[in-house]
Amino acid sequence: MNKLNVLILGSGGREHAIAWKIHQSPILNKLYVAPGNSGTLKRGENLDVNIHNYDAIKNCILTQNINLLIIGPEDPLVNGLHDQLEDDKDIHNLIIIGPKKSAAQLEGSKSFAKKFMLKNNIPTADFKSFNITNLNEAKIYLEESSPPFVIKADGLAAGKGVFICETLEKATNVVEDIVVNKKFGAAGEKIVIESFLDGIELSVFVLTNGTDYKILPTAKDYKRIGENDTGLNTGGMGAISPVPFVDEVFMEKIKTKIIEPTLIGLKKENIEYTGFIFFGLIKVKNEPFVIEYNVRLGDPETQAIIPRIKSDLLSFLASINDKQTFKNMELNIEDTAATTVILTSGGYPEKYKKGYPIRGLENITNSIAFHAGLKLEKHKYLTNGGRVVAITTVDKNIPTAIKKTYTNIEKISFQDMYFRKDIGNDLI
Ligand code: AMP
Ligand code: GLY
Repeated sequence: MNKLNVLILGSGGREHAIAWKIHQSPILNKLYVAPGNSGTLKRGENLDVNIHNYDAIKNCILTQNINLLIIGPEDPLVNGLHDQLEDDKDIHNLIIIGPKKSAAQLEGSKSFAKKFMLKNNIPTADFKSFNITNLNEAKIYLEESSPPFVIKADGLAAGKGVFICETLEKATNVVEDIVVNKKFGAAGEKIVIESFLDGIELSVFVLTNGTDYKILPTAKDYKRIGENDTGLNTGGMGAISPVPFVDEVFMEKIKTKIIEPTLIGLKKENIEYTGFIFFGLIKVKNEPFVIEYNVRLGDPETQAIIPRIKSDLLSFLASINDKQTFKNMELNIEDTAATTVILTSGGYPEKYKKGYPIRGLENITNSIAFHAGLKLEKHKYLTNGGRVVAITTVDKNIPTAIKKTYTNIEKISFQDMYFRKDIGNDLI
């Protein structure tokens, strides 16, 4: 196999973790990350490219002779970057990791995803979709349901479009806010109201070419800002891999009831898929249900699952369009556990300040610091976002990985630094 030039789009901790792994590949020639961050700098070359600017991406693919493109975040996928590149006559033989627009609707439209699951008999919460033309029906549907009420804006809302309301009054206000007051703009033209599922959540990731799939390590994400899962939702405050309650029997249910029906459903609708599918699941009375689909890897789950993959990930990505080779490859996962804890800027997920120097990153041992909202300026690392850095430890089991992660965090400091101290406690 010829060595490959790889471009990763994105700038978060997820992209640093992907770059960290790809950098180790024996089949890598050159790695580029656009726009990247201070962590990806050490694994490849950062390119100052706006990931929403098609011409800039195209130019970079042509000038750097890119063979393989990994699209990190969801927006470019939902907006059709894959389709645009494939239709472009100047671009040849580019392997694109990330689905086309039609498949990206699984994440880009909650009502599309729900209808897809209903058609394909994939377990998920009961639901109905509404818009401005049938708002009264939405109110009647709420009145006939029982709390808690789950209301979701249809489109991409950066994780902020889901509301769980305890009272009918609150639920009705949320519906008005989204559909009438356009709180999320076009992303809220439609809403989904669904029944509440009471259980424990987990994230399952596959890499697929639409026919065959490889299961990556499982992970549990900690979404709320406060300890014991309280307070506002965030992009994710930490992750644990593997999820201890996923045994062989439960994984078999996930495969046969969720992963395989999803791939069969896509085929039935002639929707091609190359890339990662992230199944946001919930375990209710020993049965898996889908809460949501994402068409990319999770952040911070990626920072916990990638270091546990023993196989060369780039070889899998490079073979994705070669059906026979991909099918025969075996993805090996280390028999270890990983803990990721996110250090955030005080105030996140609401208002926070940036530009503070971070100290102590150079002192951590036996853990990896995956940079997220961090930049390098005049040889100094400065905070540059809400989620600043992810500290990941891979160890023999979850308790030891947790202990080592927190020991390393004690060595790191920046003004108003905040992190959850209970990541993984519920799993021990
Ligand atoms: P989503 O963006 O659809 O993943 O929803 C965000 C979060 O809201 C999920 O991670 C769950 O914690 C919660 N959630 C969403 N839908 C439901 C549901 N039907 N029942 C219970 N919790 C839900
Ligand atoms: N950690 C959840 C997500 O990436 O959407």
